Amino acid sequence: MKLTGNTVFITGGGSGIGRGIAQAFHDLGNKVIISGRRKNLLDEMTHANPGMKSLELDIENASSIAAASQTLIEQYPDLNVVFNNAGIMQFDDAAGTIDENLLTSTIATNLLGPIRLTSALIEQLKRQKEAAILYNTSWLAFTPFALSAVYCSTKAALHSYALSQRYKLRGTSVRVIEIVPPWTQTDLLNSSKEPRAIPLRECLDETMRLLGSDTDEVVLERAKQLRNNAGPNEHPYVIEFNDWVLGVA
Ligand SMILES: NC(=O)c1ccc[n+]([C@@H]2O[C@H](COP(=O)([O-])OP(=O)(O)OC[C@H]3O[C@@H](n4cnc5c(N)ncnc54)[C@H](OP(=O)(O)O)[C@@H]3O)[C@@H](O)[C@H]2O)c1
Repeated sequence: MKLTGNTVFITGGGSGIGRGIAQAFHDLGNKVIISGRRKNLLDEMTHANPGMKSLELDIENASSIAAASQTLIEQYPDLNVVFNNAGIMQFDDAAGTIDENLLTSTIATNLLGPIRLTSALIEQLKRQKEAAILYNTSWLAFTPFALSAVYCSTKAALHSYALSQRYKLRGTSVRVIEIVPPWTQTDLLNSSKEPRAIPLRECLDETMRLLGSDTDEVVLERAKQLRNNAGPNEHPYVIEFNDWVLGVA
């Protein structure tokens, strides 16, 4: 996709990958609007980056999405890139009882939220000469980490939704781009110091480089093995990968 001349809206832009991508787009001269629930993090970013704007948004909440979308349409008529990045990840037990709050909040945040937001903004995007919808799924969309089964299933579902949407939008001005990061050092699942995760800087640099190419699937190098495992006979590698994460290999 084109990395300049855009008006970009990013969910979860106050921390981690979203924050880094917001910074990168801002540094390239794009108009950037970040969102999230923690206003202090949004304020920190907008104060440090004159011209960057923010919007409070709880992506778990349908009314909050409707209000934010209305504001975006009214205040940013040039909006042409939506980056569905916000997400939550918690441990669960697919062999036991799944906590109802974990289940509903993870699905609402990671799956319903991006679908609702994109749906609310799609006509605005279609009006632009060039537009893009970005989804941050995960390498775990393709090979699950069994201790966070609900999270992985939301990411697999989001991948599927992106495929359908790309098909439906073919021949329009709107591209659908999926970003597939590997384990990255952020606050997600407390991984900011995890030595087996890639440094955030590496994730951001590779993501921006691939976004600037013509690909619809930004699969980071480290994510390729998991991304390519899906298919018949995928289970042996699901076991190998989970044993590696759990240190039982
Ligand atoms: N780190 C990894 O290993 C990794 C790998 C693959 C994919 N990803 C994906 O990358 C995305 C970003 O995660 P990250 O690693 O950068 O972790 P992070 O720093 O925890 O970022 C998650 C972001 O989502 C926002 N968010 C969560 N719930 C929200 C809600 N209800 N409403 C609005 N915003 C909400 C958070 O902002 P507030 O709390 O302020 O609302 C936060 O900024 C996620 O979708 C994650 O699944 C991460």
